[in-house]
Amino acid sequence: MLPGVVYFYEQEEMKMEPRSNQSSKPAGSQRTNQKQKKEKNICPVYKKCGACQLLHMDYAAQLRYKKEQVQTLLKPYGKLEGMIGMDAPEHYRHKVHAVFGRDARGNVISGVYKEGTHIIVPVENCLLENEKADAIIQTIRGMLKSFKIKVYDEDTDYGLLRHVLVRVGYKTGQIMVVLVLRSPILPSKNNFVKALRKEHPEITTVIVNVNDKSTSMVLGEKEQVIYGPRYIEDELCGMKFKISPRSFYQVNPRQTELLYQKAIEYAELSGRETVLDAYCGTGTIGMIAATRAGKVIGVELNKDAVRDAVAGAKQNQVGNIRFYQGDAGAFMTSMADAGEKVDVVLMDPPRTGSSETFLSALVKLKPKKVVYVSCNPETLARDLKYLCGKGYRMRKGVGVDMFPFTKHVEVIIMMRLVEK
Ligand SMILES: C[S@@+](CC[C@H](N)C(=O)[O-])C[C@H]1O[C@@H](n2cnc3c(N)ncnc32)[C@H](O)[C@@H]1O
Repeated sequence: MLPGVVYFYEQEEMKMEPRSNQSSKPAGSQRTNQKQKKEKNICPVYKKCGACQLLHMDYAAQLRYKKEQVQTLLKPYGKLEGMIGMDAPEHYRHKVHAVFGRDARGNVISGVYKEGTHIIVPVENCLLENEKADAIIQTIRGMLKSFKIKVYDEDTDYGLLRHVLVRVGYKTGQIMVVLVLRSPILPSKNNFVKALRKEHPEITTVIVNVNDKSTSMVLGEKEQVIYGPRYIEDELCGMKFKISPRSFYQVNPRQTELLYQKAIEYAELSGRETVLDAYCGTGTIGMIAATRAGKVIGVELNKDAVRDAVAGAKQNQVGNIRFYQGDAGAFMTSMADAGEKVDVVLMDPPRTGSSETFLSALVKLKPKKVVYVSCNPETLARDLKYLCGKGYRMRKGVGVDMFPFTKHVEVIIMMRLVEK
């Protein structure tokens, strides 16, 4: 058992039970009332927001439920070791996004979009979100009137402030605030920063991001730093990483350390291997692997993330890693065409999973081992089916609960190429 985490192994497997069913079994409507009361006590916007699909279960039941779901999907390929949970599963999101608007009475509100809509559900404190980040968002909301900053209205395309994004460094405590505006000018920007930092001196950088498009994307292309260095730094598994506003960085850093440790354990590196870190983001997994491998090649589509990765390698003095910016599928294909040799592929694609171009190039490259980190077990199962049809076999797998109270889960699989 790992210290400080809830770890469900096979022998602890039980049938999933919603929290309300585990007590003294009150009858029908009484039970429903109790369940609704509990949900409301934990979160007043539980039903409206829709993000916490598993809030009605206690945490142990959530882990069992997630494990069952993943195991069912992966059954044709192999068995899951367990589901690694958190000992304190609240307030784990270190990246918090709030959308700003007005309610029906014209009051300024900030919160989240109701799932699948652009209706804003006001949120004061969220069970999932870092509490400091929530407090900063409330402070900004309170400052808008005195700075004469109007919130943006999608229907009329009028107003300035669309979103606020806050990122909090897990180990460093550094904080980034990104103000997403409809147009580039923030009135009295220096005084705004001064007033904000007076309330929250731990803020280390403030950035204005301009999003002038009618889009569901939060961040636009243009950025202007109005305070600090444009990035925050954080530490994971003993290494420092730079994080820019648009770079991917796992939202739950406490669990990320466990996720990365498992990925490295599954890679079983001896110190001589050539490792490919595909979909590498800011190069986190690759840099940790580099200390145990011959050399590492990282590939990532997002330019800002690659820039952060290169800076991170320099800062951590990792000399045996190179990063390439581009589509991972195209990159793998050119590697396969050039007859390059790769021993281990670490891959961590987005929710959509990998592409057929990537997978067919992987099959040509014939790495002995593939460690697949997935935030969507359905696309993982699809890609596993493809790779198992081409000679790979799942040898190990484990779930990591990166997103307590929600239906989402992270899974790591290790596959080996079976020699014929
Ligand atoms: C789930 S994140 C993983 C990042 C990194 N491994 C980590 O743990 O922080 C997926 C990454 O894939 C990148 N990405 C998405 N599509 C890509 C593609 N076609 N080629 C390369 N990278 C891509 C995204 O920008 C993102 O950084």
